[in-house]
Amino acid sequence: MKTNPERIIIFDTTLRDGEQCPGATLNIEEKLTIAKQLARLGVDIIEAGFAFASPGDFEAVSKIAQVVGTEDGPVICSLARAKQDDIKAAAAAIKPAAKGRIHTFLATSDIHLKYKLRKTREEVLSIAEEMVAYAKTFTHDIEFSPEDAGRSDPEFLYQVLERVIAAGATTVNIPDTVGYTTPSEFGGLIKGIKANVPNIDQAVISVHGHNDLGLAVANFLEAVKNGARQLECTINGIGERAGNAALEELVMALHVRRQYFNPFLGRDVDSEAALTNIDTKQIYKTSRLVSNLTGMLVQPNKAIVGTNAFAHESGIHQDGVLKNKLTYEIMDAQSIGLTENQIVLGKHSGRNAFRTRLKELGFEMSENDLNKAFVRFKEVADKKKEITDWDLEALVNDEIQQTPDLFKLEMVQVSCGSNASPTATVTLRNPEGVELTDAAIGTGPVDAVYKAINRVVNVPNNLIEFSVQSVTAGIDAIGEVTIRLKYEEKIYSGRSANTDIIVASAQAYVNALNKLYGALLGKQKQQITA
Ligand code: KIV
Ligand code: ZN
Repeated sequence: MKTNPERIIIFDTTLRDGEQCPGATLNIEEKLTIAKQLARLGVDIIEAGFAFASPGDFEAVSKIAQVVGTEDGPVICSLARAKQDDIKAAAAAIKPAAKGRIHTFLATSDIHLKYKLRKTREEVLSIAEEMVAYAKTFTHDIEFSPEDAGRSDPEFLYQVLERVIAAGATTVNIPDTVGYTTPSEFGGLIKGIKANVPNIDQAVISVHGHNDLGLAVANFLEAVKNGARQLECTINGIGERAGNAALEELVMALHVRRQYFNPFLGRDVDSEAALTNIDTKQIYKTSRLVSNLTGMLVQPNKAIVGTNAFAHESGIHQDGVLKNKLTYEIMDAQSIGLTENQIVLGKHSGRNAFRTRLKELGFEMSENDLNKAFVRFKEVADKKKEITDWDLEALVNDEIQQTPDLFKLEMVQVSCGSNASPTATVTLRNPEGVELTDAAIGTGPVDAVYKAINRVVNVPNNLIEFSVQSVTAGIDAIGEVTIRLKYEEKIYSGRSANTDIIVASAQAYVNALNKLYGALLGKQKQQITA
């Protein structure tokens, strides 16, 4: 990779920093599904995880390196603290990739040195240098991050950066770890680095930032103007606390306002050449996939990918848009791959039409998943005359959910209404194939269903989030249920879509419980083999 690329490098950390946020826990299959979609989206680098953190993290990085890290695919990266064992694990995990990167980090702010690391500046300088040189023995592509750079003394930061570049760092990443800086400060920091680190032309300047004050994207854009050429971001901006800079916002800002940014990259103002390698038409699909698999809902007014991002409610705006879209639209919904919600299929549509439309929507499915989705489609088409693209997407997302098939929901029935105690009966097939039926009374029908399911599955847990969203308008709309439950500080999510929201609620709960149950079984196995 050139140290001064003519375009902006997109480094996606959805699977590392994004996955670090409460409740976004993904299993290996889900991580792989997201990594494949990130490759289709066109990200340059996938930070696939923190290999040393756990055997599961190691396996996920390694699997992604093997499957997605092909010759023409993205660079696969693993995070590592500036410690030999971390770096060794990262190197082993990325080994199957055609192009691999080790990203090592060490804090440089006085607060972190004093309270967290209990080290002097001299010690930090030599550890950083030594660990970058050590990482370099495994691969040439090394990224170094001075953690909490945003609150570090710039003079000390310059020294650290000079030393790590001399030791072999090819990218130096400047994190605003606590989301503290303002755009002009962050831009100034990058400018200072360019002016004061003598060997800075031997490395790419990258930025990483959290959104505690809602400034992460603005900070990055200011950094680009001052010389940053790699942006570390996540889909939907998920991540630690208030999240990371959102990939879709950065990419679309650079795309829509390319005439503004072109000169900062030494281009003609009117150049139409893309500023990133991202296929913007894949943005919406990637956003939905990450939201579905993590169970982290996207707020309706979220820039670019929120459901209201392209909706015009005010009469004056609607009138203007009908006369000419440019009156109130700065970008086309289709540029992010948001298709018109057209009616595409009905109950007489066959497997071929179903397969063809899914392909057009960009879903690549195994024959097995396609068959399962087709059965679901037929069930829904019986109840709902017209099936739209959005309905199809909701159904397919159910099938590509990577939930262990442990408990299977066979039947759910509720009785409720005014002057009645909501009562549910459920039948589940357990992992041994035995059918179990139980019933419960609850405060409402969903509560009754969940209580009945709990009586069968018998794994204590705490339901912390339940949400129902309608996929389309209309009384026969498909409802999408997303739930999150907590067990011993870990959060497990589940989702399901159905025209009957009680069935969707039951299935979403069983999906989340299956993830929890699968994790408990995995833990048991580890204890037995240890
Ligand atoms: O926020 C941060 O500082 C990080 C580093 C590991 C880059 O995530
Ligand atoms: Zn971070």
